[in-house]
Amino acid sequence: MAEVLAQLDPSEGGKYLDGTVGGGGHAGAILDASTPSGRLLGLDRDPAALALATSELARFGDRAVLVRANFAVLDEVAGAHGFVPVDGVILDLGLSSIQLADAERGFSFFARGPLDMRADPDIRVTAAEIVNSWSEKDLRRVFAEYGEEPEAARVAGAIVRRRVKAPFEAADDLGRFVAGVKTRRPRGIDPATRVFQALRIAVNDELANLESGLAAAMRVLRPGGRIAVISFHSLEDRIVKRFFVRESRDCICPPHLPTCVCGHRAGLRVVTRRPLRAATAEVDRNPRARSAALRVAERLP
Ligand SMILES: C[S@@+](CC[C@H](N)C(=O)[O-])C[C@H]1O[C@@H](n2cnc3c(N)ncnc32)[C@H](O)[C@@H]1O
Repeated sequence: MAEVLAQLDPSEGGKYLDGTVGGGGHAGAILDASTPSGRLLGLDRDPAALALATSELARFGDRAVLVRANFAVLDEVAGAHGFVPVDGVILDLGLSSIQLADAERGFSFFARGPLDMRADPDIRVTAAEIVNSWSEKDLRRVFAEYGEEPEAARVAGAIVRRRVKAPFEAADDLGRFVAGVKTRRPRGIDPATRVFQALRIAVNDELANLESGLAAAMRVLRPGGRIAVISFHSLEDRIVKRFFVRESRDCICPPHLPTCVCGHRAGLRVVTRRPLRAATAEVDRNPRARSAALRVAERLP
C-alpha cells in the first residue's frame, strides 16, 4: 500500500483508475490522498467484490465511480465515464482474501464447495468442466504452462483415469487427489497449489486479460501519469515486465535487422527496474503480501 501511494502520488483534483477495486483498500487510500476533489473509477469483474467496494467507498460520495467490468476493456469504460485521460492506474492482480475464503467459489483446495473458480458468474466454463472434460494433453499443457507444475503429465494422466469412475465435483476432493498423486513435495506450499493456480488462470483467462489491460491502460494515461501493477506469481510478473520493456523502446525489430522497419515509438518509461516488495511490517500484518511484486511505469508524451 505505502509503495503504491508513493509511486502514484495521488493529488487533489487528480483522476485515478483502479482496475481491481476488490475490497476498496487501494481505492480508499488513493481517494484519501487526493482529498478533497480527486476522483476514482473502480472496476471489478466480480459482482460480490463490487458490492463490497460500493459500501467501503460510500463515504467518498460521487468521488468514487464503481463499475462491474473486466479491466481488459478499461479504456472503453474510462471513456464512457469521463475518466480519459487519467493520472494513475492501479492493477492489483489475482483474488481478494474474501474470494479465497468463500468455500462456494471453489478457489481453495481446502474448500468443500463446488469446483467453480469463476471470478465472474457470466464466464461459461468452470474448473469442474475443465477437469472432467478436457483431453489429457490439454490438461497437461494447462498445468505446465499456467501452473509451471513439474509433474503436469503425471497429474493430468491420473485425473483422466480417475474421472471415468468418479468425476471431480468438490474443490477439496481435487486438492487431496492431486496431493496424493504427486511424488514430490514442494517446499512451503500445498502440493496442489500449482494445479489450482493453473485452473484459475484458464477459467478466468487471466493472462490474456492482463495483456489487454496493460495496453488499454497505456491508451488512457496522460503523459506523466503512472501505471502500477502488483502481481503474485512469476507468469504475471513476466508479462508486466516484458510489456513495460517493449513499450519503453523506440524500436522492437528483431536484433538481426540492420535498420528499423517497425516504426515503434517508446510510450513508457520504466520506473522500477526491479519489482518492489512489500515492507516487513506489511507482510507481518498480511502474509499474502510476501509474494507481491510491484512494477511501475510512467507514460511518455
Ligand atoms: C487482490 S484483489 C484487489 C484488492 C484491492 N486492491 C483492495 O485493496 O481491496 C483483486 C480483485 O481483482 C478482481 N479482478 C481480477 N481480474 C480482474 C479483471 N480482469 N477485471 C476486473 N477485475 C478483476 C478480482 O475479482 C478481485 O476482486
